[in-house]
Amino acid sequence: MQTTLIILKPDAVQRGLMGRIISRFEDKGLQIIGAKMMLISPELATRHYEVHRGKPFYDKLLRFMTCCPVLVLAIQGVGAIEISRKLMGATFGSQAEPGTIRGDFGVSNGFNLIHGSDSPESAEREISLFFTEQELLPYDRACEGWIYDISGGKPE
Ligand code: RTP
Ligand code: MG
Repeated sequence: MQTTLIILKPDAVQRGLMGRIISRFEDKGLQIIGAKMMLISPELATRHYEVHRGKPFYDKLLRFMTCCPVLVLAIQGVGAIEISRKLMGATFGSQAEPGTIRGDFGVSNGFNLIHGSDSPESAEREISLFFTEQELLPYDRACEGWIYDISGGKPE
């Protein structure tokens, strides 16, 4: 099982797309185990995007991510990190494939609606930046045995 950090960025919140984007993850069978709306502080944005410090788009990215509330999600599932990145689509809305979140809901390159962790190491780091342990609420799903084949003892 993996847990990934997803952020519905200010454009997704402003455009009223939160419900439809969340549905993509739920429809896939991934499980939301943490959720909160927040205004990201400049300090938190700096830590979250520290790998991009110094890049040409960095200042604009920080202004964008801190300008309005976002919805932060912790999403769990087998292979959740890679599956989520596939659901999101390519970074730039202009290039993202139809059928993906970025491909279906936007055209902008910078305003690309959603963030998702890009590796297990990033996921662990980012989840601890945005959630306390108490805010993560794993729970048994009644339908688990229909989402995964668990007949062999582990979800497949
Ligand atoms: P994210 O981190 O937000 O999930 O997006 P990503 O992995 O697909 O893309 P990344 O390379 O990590 O870039 C982070 C965010 O910076 C903005 N960006 N703008 N104008 C540009 O050239 C440019 N490049 C990146 C996007 O908002 C991107 O999601
Ligand atoms: Mg990234």
